[in-house]
Amino acid sequence: MHAIGIDIGGTKIAGALVDEFGTIIKSDRRPTEAADPREIEDAVVEMIEGLSAGEDVVAAGVAAAGFIDAAQSTVYYAPNINWRNEPLREKLESRLSVPIIIENDANAAGWAEFCFGAGRLYSDMVTLTIGTGVGGAIVSRDKLFRGGFGVGAELGHMRVVPDGLPCGCGAHGCIEQYGSGRALLRIANEFADAGGIGLGLAASRAKRGKLTGKDVGRFIQDGDPGALAALRQLGASLGQACASLAAVLDPQVFVFGGGVAAAGELLLEPIRSAYLDNLPARGYHPEAEFAIAELVNDAGVVGAADLARRHVTGE
Ligand code: BGC
Ligand code: NA
Ligand code: ZN
Repeated sequence: MHAIGIDIGGTKIAGALVDEFGTIIKSDRRPTEAADPREIEDAVVEMIEGLSAGEDVVAAGVAAAGFIDAAQSTVYYAPNINWRNEPLREKLESRLSVPIIIENDANAAGWAEFCFGAGRLYSDMVTLTIGTGVGGAIVSRDKLFRGGFGVGAELGHMRVVPDGLPCGCGAHGCIEQYGSGRALLRIANEFADAGGIGLGLAASRAKRGKLTGKDVGRFIQDGDPGALAALRQLGASLGQACASLAAVLDPQVFVFGGGVAAAGELLLEPIRSAYLDNLPARGYHPEAEFAIAELVNDAGVVGAADLARRHVTGE
């Protein structure tokens, strides 16, 4: 039984036709100015039409980076896209003949990891996706946790610094401001401006202006000490958050996805160590595993498709 998964990212929209085993049968992707809701909607409609042509499709799941309601219809709010009470499902269903559900992007990606990837051997998992923002997914006793209003697992907006940096959600001190790809960029630029560590960072900054995400990724790969220190600082914030999450949710595994997770063990190592340093009842509370997401760029589309399929089949 095939379903379509669509993943609306910051710079591109990805789509795939997926079977019940999480296998991608065909896929599509296109760049987009994701800030414009109308452009996004048009692109999603075209993509679903294209992927379903000549196929038997039971449903389409659309993963979006925002606070989604319990009916999986409306995006209440998106910190990094211009959606405010956006009736996305209604708009899409009025233009398409396949049933649609809207899913939080990190929930979709986390669900895919739970079913087919790094979380498949566990019953209780927390996923953090480290990209532009910090996304969260919680699986508890094999079930995706949604909360009372549908917006549970917005883990990026847990406060980790009292009166800290302002966040796109309107609050202050959210982990998104200390543990996201954007935060990594901010920290790396601060280190470069200070000039002390990471002479590579500082020199590049002086020569070419603000460092980009690509620059920082390259410096990390090359082992630049400043870039690695920035990544460690990011990991330390995330690890502390994981220690608190352990007290609330007690997962057996934390899975890290999103662009920054490409850093692999370089990211996991400081996360694990900050988690252990801050774990309540350390030495007695069993320690969780830490893993990098396995489905990488496909997690969002595979998870959105699987959740849409289960929604219509009642599985
Ligand atoms: C949003 C989440 C989203 C995450 C990752 C956060 O800013 O609030 O809904 O899952 O970014 O895209
Ligand atoms: Na979420
Ligand atoms: Zn926030």
